[in-house]
Amino acid sequence: MKLFTSVHDVANVPAIVKEALELKANPFAHQELGKNKTIGLIFLNPSLRTRLSTQKAALNLGMNAIVMNIDKEGWALETRDGVVMNGTTVEHIREAAGVMGEYCDILGIRSFPSLKDKEEDYTEDIFNKFIKYSGIPVISLESATRHPLQSFADLITIEEHKKTAKPKVVLTWAPHVKALPQAVPNSFAEWMCKAQEEGMIDFVITHPEGYELAENFTPGAKITYNQDEALSGADFIYVKNWSSYEDYGKVLTEGEGWMMTQEKLKITNKAKVMHCLPVRRDLELGSDILDSEDSLVIKEAANRVWAAQAVIKGILEEL
Ligand code: CP
Repeated sequence: MKLFTSVHDVANVPAIVKEALELKANPFAHQELGKNKTIGLIFLNPSLRTRLSTQKAALNLGMNAIVMNIDKEGWALETRDGVVMNGTTVEHIREAAGVMGEYCDILGIRSFPSLKDKEEDYTEDIFNKFIKYSGIPVISLESATRHPLQSFADLITIEEHKKTAKPKVVLTWAPHVKALPQAVPNSFAEWMCKAQEEGMIDFVITHPEGYELAENFTPGAKITYNQDEALSGADFIYVKNWSSYEDYGKVLTEGEGWMMTQEKLKITNKAKVMHCLPVRRDLELGSDILDSEDSLVIKEAANRVWAAQAVIKGILEEL
């Protein structure tokens, strides 16, 4: 693997899920692979799970890890080309990424969208500049449009907890007070559509009108505005808020009635409930579920380590 920005960078999805579960069973089997190699984990935005799990994965592989919150600890970054830097920005992304490429063998980047400029966000302008100017393999720690390490961990979690050969997996929109990116649902949909293609799951998306994701992320998914229809017989429910893609970055509804509760689980096939975290209790997802055996949120977060480790291992093997 040369790059990890989406499911499209993975040659064989069932095989990499199997590999992650093998790493979970034997975390320190490949310590020689990362010896004297350095991963830089660069955050333009906040993180708990991604930061800790990816660092742990690298250490499990014998690597050195440098972590930097560039938004708080670095020079104010200029990402536009062709501008005279006579304002508040101090360092251009060309030099910053180039220098990172000198210090590290692999770079992880987190860069959220503006939610103001759809074109800039969906062309992954900032993320692609890090790839171009660092000149080394880059792992997405969540970009403007995708969060592939999260979605990979989600698929590992489904594989571990499934009770039928081909479980029904539902992505449901949830209420929130803020406009959130589409990165997590885009990426989850992309991974689940691939898993569906591989015969691993059946995949359904449900959301209020106006919250359609970009079509290229949902090939083959069944999409319905009727949440009850989607939840009926579900084995896994993935709860997530996102802002509108069409009316870009807008919150269109308060989403009354869309929060997942124990009452709603009654029509499912004793579904397990997932969320990438952080979650706003009793707004997005009822604490009656989060505090119950039906919640997989902590196990999902734990699996972030094995997703990251499988990806970093794949890249180390090709350095
Ligand atoms: N789910 C996730 O990526 O968590 P963090 O934003 O805390 O890294």
